[in-house]
Amino acid sequence: MTDQIKVGIWGLGRAGLNMHASELALYPQLFTIHSGYDLDLERNRILETKYGARTYTDADAFLNDPEVELISIATRSPDHVTHCEKALAAGKYAFLEKPIALTYAEGRKILELDQAYPGKLYSRHNRRFEAPFNHIKEIVASGILGKVYEIKLCRHSFQRRNDWQTLIECGGGQLNNWGPHLIDHALQFLDYKVVEMWSDLKKTVALGNAEDHLKIVFKGEDGCVVDLEISGGAALPQNEYTLFGSLGALTCQGSDIHLKYIQSGQVFKQNEAFSGTPPLSGGVQNAYADQEEINWIEEHIKVAPSKPIDMHSIWEALYLAIKKDIPYPISIQQAVAVVKITDEVKSKTEFTTA
Ligand SMILES: NC(=O)c1ccc[n+]([C@@H]2O[C@H](COP(=O)([O-])OP(=O)(O)OC[C@H]3O[C@@H](n4cnc5c(N)ncnc54)[C@H](O)[C@@H]3O)[C@@H](O)[C@H]2O)c1
Repeated sequence: MTDQIKVGIWGLGRAGLNMHASELALYPQLFTIHSGYDLDLERNRILETKYGARTYTDADAFLNDPEVELISIATRSPDHVTHCEKALAAGKYAFLEKPIALTYAEGRKILELDQAYPGKLYSRHNRRFEAPFNHIKEIVASGILGKVYEIKLCRHSFQRRNDWQTLIECGGGQLNNWGPHLIDHALQFLDYKVVEMWSDLKKTVALGNAEDHLKIVFKGEDGCVVDLEISGGAALPQNEYTLFGSLGALTCQGSDIHLKYIQSGQVFKQNEAFSGTPPLSGGVQNAYADQEEINWIEEHIKVAPSKPIDMHSIWEALYLAIKKDIPYPISIQQAVAVVKITDEVKSKTEFTTA
């Protein structure tokens, strides 16, 4: 096949080497790992040895290699906007890791770049392609849970981490790190119509000075509340997803979904609330007037969206956008909407230490 996209990976760390390179290797018909560039020469050697790619020790030479079409940017977060601009200015497609920007001012710069280089800039919000997220969206759309009025999104761990992702001066903190993934999910569930937001940022057990525990509560235009919590200080993790709807509920942890919902077609009597004093005997049945049995369906199913999808599927979407003009599912406007939220949370939230 001759139409593979030749990729240069900028930054060969946990994301660049462990994710970008290993995921690209899953799609040899679509991509070739052409080259890489890291300040750490040992990492360059690993890319050469493991993937047969060439490496550079100079950013300009790396960017100006005429064979490279796409620069996959996996350097530290504060460098993202500058590196993206350089990749685009060199005439390449740019695939930009999250957070695509650290401030809304930087986010506006990303919008300007998108306008200046139409069709060249793509954001790596890879968790948009998470199988559980996609399966749960399908369940919500099927209507079996009725009107979903509350969604809890949690990512919990207990990590006494001490890398740059825990330092404010390095663009660290869970708001910049895991935040973009879950804020993107929250905005997707709320169709980008947020009318209210409340947030809390805390440092709990990580060793740096940035928050490692955060909560954001969104209220959507349709009244649905999304309660988002990311924690590196939670010793007992809670479910990654909990949804409450007028006809049922759902929880999801890992690849397991637990569903409980009212069998479709069940018709209830038109009971009405009453203001009188309920009888002492008869238990809740008399107090709640709801004496009809509910025909529940309870299921434990494995995560399996109708179209097989996983986080690495983002590369297929990227290929289709670049080579086949098929719209990339994450617009730059959507990615910048996430940055707008992180910026607002930072500016409005008092930071505390647990
Ligand atoms: N989408 C995801 O699932 C995901 C997962 C992990 C990290 N990330 C993002 O990827 C980015 C990198 O995170 P990481 O955990 O890989 O960090 P890391 O520190 O492990 O890797 C960064 C690499 O970039 C290199 N580097 C730094 N500055 C450079 C420069 N100017 N030129 C060339 N190389 C340079 C470093 O030597 C290092 O090898 C972060 O912004 C992070 O938010 C995304």
